[in-house]
Amino acid sequence: MIVGAIVTLPLGYTTTKEYAELEWPLAILLAIVWVTYGLVFFGTITKRKTKHIYVGNWFYGAFIVVTAMLHIVNHASLPVSFFKSYSAYAGATDAMIQWWYGHNAVGFFLTTGFLGMMYYFVPKQAERPIYSYRLSIVHFWALITLYIWAGPHHLHYTALPDWAQSLGMAMSIILLAPSWGGMINGMMTLSGAWHKLRTDPILRFLVVSLAFYGMSTFEGPMMAIKTVNSLSHYTDWTIGHVHAGALGWVAMISIGAIYHMIPKLFGRAQMHSIGLINTHFWLATIGTVLYIASMWVNGITQGLMWRAINDDGTLTYSFVEALQASHPGFIVRALGGAFFATGMLFMAYNVWRTVRASNPAEAQAAEQIVVVGAH
Ligand code: HEM
Ligand code: HEM
Repeated sequence: MIVGAIVTLPLGYTTTKEYAELEWPLAILLAIVWVTYGLVFFGTITKRKTKHIYVGNWFYGAFIVVTAMLHIVNHASLPVSFFKSYSAYAGATDAMIQWWYGHNAVGFFLTTGFLGMMYYFVPKQAERPIYSYRLSIVHFWALITLYIWAGPHHLHYTALPDWAQSLGMAMSIILLAPSWGGMINGMMTLSGAWHKLRTDPILRFLVVSLAFYGMSTFEGPMMAIKTVNSLSHYTDWTIGHVHAGALGWVAMISIGAIYHMIPKLFGRAQMHSIGLINTHFWLATIGTVLYIASMWVNGITQGLMWRAINDDGTLTYSFVEALQASHPGFIVRALGGAFFATGMLFMAYNVWRTVRASNPAEAQAAEQIVVVGAH
């Protein structure tokens, strides 16, 4: 499926739907991959030895089920040839289905699975039980109930009926509550273990990712307000928001989780170098902040320049003038990206050294524990 995507997209075969561009044969392959993934996951859950299903797995299950549902519904189409199909939906309905898909791709693909990871790795790394199990259940149901309604905030001031836009805006603002409930649950798990942050850069990755999650889920509801969106839409502000989530939250929690797992998988007490993890942490954090801050400045600059008009109603600035004004921000973003990417190289080196130095006997013993556990 991935090879097919790499070949067909540059050749121009696309449905033209954002984040859903693959033509129907590849879309079907992707559906099969995802349904198989669901079968493996839920098959494992069915064969479990304990009665209880830990909340992390609830989030993971929702991530798999909803992503499959979104993909299948949004890709319903009529093929006219091997590389061309037409959407089953028309006009504004097509747009609404597309952003129901798009927003929930963010909510379930880039959030819910990672929240499942959060519920596992934060307590493990902090060596503390989750702050409130009751809150985690409320968090789960509130999050999956509300996310599904927020899609129309991507279609403000379009042909979508006004009531649908306003409903999407209202639901987005309410979505702040479960998002922050989850963040607080993760953060408060550190109660009594805050001192560990001073010495444990892995825990720092996990906690700072939660802080970025809180930040982006505060920013999102604000951007969903129609008057704010009239300024932010089409500008780099959206791009900054995307990467507060994508780098600050998604990437950083994954990095923390990988640092937690690698030594266990390869039978080592800890990673090769804690100092390098610390360096990586600062590179990732500073890189993300540079990225987000430069895009805020750019976004607001672009929004204000595009809407400025002279007394006679003509535009004060041409598009190119706004682009020129954005140039310094692009350089700062490139710098931020370079920081972030350099950190990843440190990680690759650190992982390589850890794996190379691992004790094969211990690694095999660890593997056996995993295998026995699975049976
Ligand atoms: C309460 C949670 C959130 C709300 C209400 C929200 C709201 C928004 C809004 C209003 C936009 C701008 C739409 C536009 O003007 O076109 C947006 C864009 C976006 N957000 Fe969020 N956001 C939230 C959380 C997140 C998180 C956590 C992530 C990533 C992990 C994320 C990823 C994105 C992406 C990728 C886009 C760009 C979509 C596009 O391509 O146009 N959002 N979000
Ligand atoms: C070093 C790290 C990264 C850099 C430098 C970077 C840079 C960029 C750039 C330059 C764009 C185009 C923005 C524009 O249209 O002006 C972009 C878009 C995007 N990136 Fe990243 N990115 C990074 C990592 C990530 C990660 C880890 C994710 C996902 C987890 C991600 C998700 C996205 C998405 C969803 C968009 C489309 C946003 C939109 O069009 O609304 N990025 N990125």
